[in-house]
This record gives sequence, structure tokens and C-alpha cells, in this order.
Amino acid sequence: MKLIHKEILSQDKDAKIIKITVLSPEIAQKVKPGQFVVLMVAERGERIPLTVVERNLEEGTITLIFQEVGLTTRLLGQLNVGASLFALVGPLGHPTEIKKYGKIILIGGGVGIAEIYPVAQAFKEAGNYIETIIGSRTQALLILEKELRGVSDVLYVTTDDGSYGRKGFTTDVLEELLRKEKFDLVYAVGPIPMMKKVSFLTKEFGVKTIVSLNAIMLDGTGMCGCCRVEIGAKTQFSCVDGPEFDGHLVDWDGLAKRNSIYTEQEKHICKLLIK
Ligand code: FAD
Ligand code: FES
Ligand code: MG
Repeated sequence: MKLIHKEILSQDKDAKIIKITVLSPEIAQKVKPGQFVVLMVAERGERIPLTVVERNLEEGTITLIFQEVGLTTRLLGQLNVGASLFALVGPLGHPTEIKKYGKIILIGGGVGIAEIYPVAQAFKEAGNYIETIIGSRTQALLILEKELRGVSDVLYVTTDDGSYGRKGFTTDVLEELLRKEKFDLVYAVGPIPMMKKVSFLTKEFGVKTIVSLNAIMLDGTGMCGCCRVEIGAKTQFSCVDGPEFDGHLVDWDGLAKRNSIYTEQEKHICKLLIK
């Protein structure tokens, strides 16, 4: 659980995205694309889930990429090489179903770009044709462009402010692609409004859509019920039934509401503890 490598991938005045490589031979051995870990930075603190972006079997390491958004991700960002996490559990969740679908569009928004990278590699290795759309608020926060270009047949980049690539949202490009030709699968990870819009569009065009949900998690093993989401008429636990679900069946408004439950308390404690 020792940090072997740390790198700031991107930052601007309001946000920072950091990559860390952590020693964990057991998780490295077992993890598959789409799976995540739950970690604790210190003994007195919360657990947070993060997707495993890469593994190195020879070195027994896993790579995590996270955006500093609140207390725990900021505390994690303060750990330096040589320091150890207090706890690390995984791999958790179902792996992505990797097979030959045909023509796939992958969409990553913000730090969701990191989460689509291992899946893009695996889809490519399975013989799929891949068009990838990545988007960030601004150029300074764009990550893994070179890596995703390497595994994609075509890569599109959007920024909200037009500082790089095309000005606008990933969903603008998605809509154009769907209007032009037929795709067999859309796979999307990013902010809830983005995944909601993606699912709305693909439903209209009748394209199967997988999303990886960022529901609030505690234990990550199906015991607390914290991560429950409504999928169609069923209540599911995002950690053990997901984190991937059919985007056309997700109750997006319910998920957004649950995800903001602790916003005020989190802001308060963050102000108290982080200078
Ligand atoms: P807070 O201020 O506590 O919260 C900020 C926002 O983060 C909240 O509004 C809420 O939406 C979300 N959040 C807070 N606590 C949790 C929690 N325990 N579980 C889930 N979401 C929470 N982020 C990345 O940057 N990189 C990743 O690879 C990544 N992978 C994820 C994989 C899964 C399966 C899930 C469910 C989430 C993933 N996230 C990832 C989101 C990450 O867990 C949250 O950003 C993090 O927990 C925020 O904690 P905080 O204390 O820093 O911020
Ligand atoms: Fe506790 Fe899913 S995080 S049940
Ligand atoms: Mg928190």
C-alpha cells in the first residue's frame, strides 16, 4: 500500500488531477478493466472508491488517477512517494464485459477520461473499432489524450471553454456521430449530467449504452446500502451489482440527489481541516 510514484497530471486554479502508483501485488494480480478499489488515507477518515486505471504485474502495482474535489481526495493528494495508505480493498465491482461488439463510441468527461482508458484498451484488444470522445472544462484539465489516441481509431477532444479541441460538450460530438452512422455500443463515464445526456441521446438512436456510476459508497461490498440506485423498477447496489449499468434504465435524478446529500457537511469539514 506504499506510494511508488506520484505525478500531477493536470491542474488549473480550481482543480487538480493526480496520478499515483501504489504497491499492491494481490490487487494487481486480480484486477480487470472496470473494477475499482476502496481506500482510506488515514485511520480516522472516510473510505472512497477509485477506479484502477492500470496495473503492472511485474512490479505488483496499481495506478489510480483522481481529481481533488473534497477532503479525502485532498488528503490523498498530500501523500508523497514512500508514504502508505491506511487501508486498500479490491478489486471490487463487476469487470466490464469485454467482447467484440463491433463499432464502439467511448466517452470520458473530466476525470472519467481516466476511467474509460483501461476499458478502451480491452475493447481494442478484443477487436472492436473505437471512436473516443474526451472532454474537459478547459485544456489545462485534459488528461490521457496521447494514451487514448493510441488505442482509438478516431479521437475527438472537446473543451467547455474552447481552449483546446472543439468548443462544446462531448455530447455535441456524440449526437453528430449518431446521426451519421450506426454504432453497436456506447460506453460513458463522467459527471452525472453528461452520462444522463449521453443516455438520453443513445436511447433516441436505439444504441445500447453502458455507464459506470459514481454513487456514494462506504464499504463497497454490499453491506451498507449507501450506494443504492434505481435501475428500471429495481433497487440495485452500485458496488456489487455495478458499477456499470444500462444507461437507459438509470434513475438519473435520484442518483444526483443522493450524491449531493453530504455536500454542506463535506464543505464545512474541508474548511476546518484543510488550509
Ligand atoms: P467530498 O467533498 O466528500 O465529495 C465530493 C463529491 O464526491 C460528492 O458530492 C459525491 O458526489 C462524491 N463522493 C463523496 N464521497 C464519496 C464516496 N464515499 N463514494 C463515492 N462518491 C463520493 N474519482 C476520481 O477522481 N477518479 C476515479 O477513478 C474515480 N473512480 C470512482 C469509481 C467509483 C466506482 C465511484 C463510485 C466513484 C469514483 N470516483 C472517482 C469518485 C470519488 O470516489 C469521489 O470523487 C470521492 O469519493 C470524493 O471524496 P472527497 O471526500 O474528496 O469529496
Ligand atoms: Fe455499501 Fe455499496 S457501498 S452497499
Ligand atoms: Mg468526503
